[in-house]
Amino acid sequence: QNVVYLETTNSTNEIAKEYARNGAEEGTIIVAEEQKMGRGRFSRSFYSPFAKGIWFSLILRPTFFPLEASKSTLLAAVAVCRALRSAGLPQAAIKWPNDILVDGRKLVGILTELSASMERIDYIVMGIGINTGIERIEFPEDFRDKTTSFLAEGIAVSRKQLLAAVLAELEKLYMVAETEGFDKILEDWKTLSCTIGNEVQVISEDKTFIGKAVDLDNNGCLLVDTGTKIERVIAGDVSIRP
Ligand code: BTN
Repeated sequence: QNVVYLETTNSTNEIAKEYARNGAEEGTIIVAEEQKMGRGRFSRSFYSPFAKGIWFSLILRPTFFPLEASKSTLLAAVAVCRALRSAGLPQAAIKWPNDILVDGRKLVGILTELSASMERIDYIVMGIGINTGIERIEFPEDFRDKTTSFLAEGIAVSRKQLLAAVLAELEKLYMVAETEGFDKILEDWKTLSCTIGNEVQVISEDKTFIGKAVDLDNNGCLLVDTGTKIERVIAGDVSIRP
């Protein structure tokens, strides 16, 4: 496996896409000590301070159909959630689609990017950020109550060992997806989720509504029962209501 190690970069996803465009092979990872412009979903920024987390991007060149690609982000969440549970956070759970929360606070963000035609996927870049050594007080004030890290949860973790564990879980699940498809992975996602079965508020592009998250469909979309109908959420922000 090729590992590109950087002290500092703007965003490992940007570097990974550059490598992928230049033909880097599947399994290449870009890992950085620090990101100056770490990016999240919906062009939000992702706080990635020096040596206080695992900030990396993995290049994949799957043979599955482009329409399946969005499910690879759920695959990443399952893999990371399992690694976190084994590393001392048994309460780690997935919030749809792919944030990992510990007691309601976000510890991991995942940003998957894709280049594909109708027929085939050129590459997927799976960007994963795991907060390890960030003190609660260090988090920017506006999301201090909503984020956490291994350190803030009182757990010392080796970044090297955790990265190895995450990669091992990712590899296992990726083999499953490539050979058997995503059905089993979506089932696993459901058992690790803190979204299904709960009251949620959904903010999507065109509307905001509340309801009970009841299931995932075969495409990985979230199904929410509003009382009058079942809404299918393809993209959007989901918060779990207390
Ligand atoms: C989110 O929370 O919306 C997703 C955050 C994804 C962060 C990771 S860190 C490594 C990779 N590089 C980035 O710029 N973003 C992802």
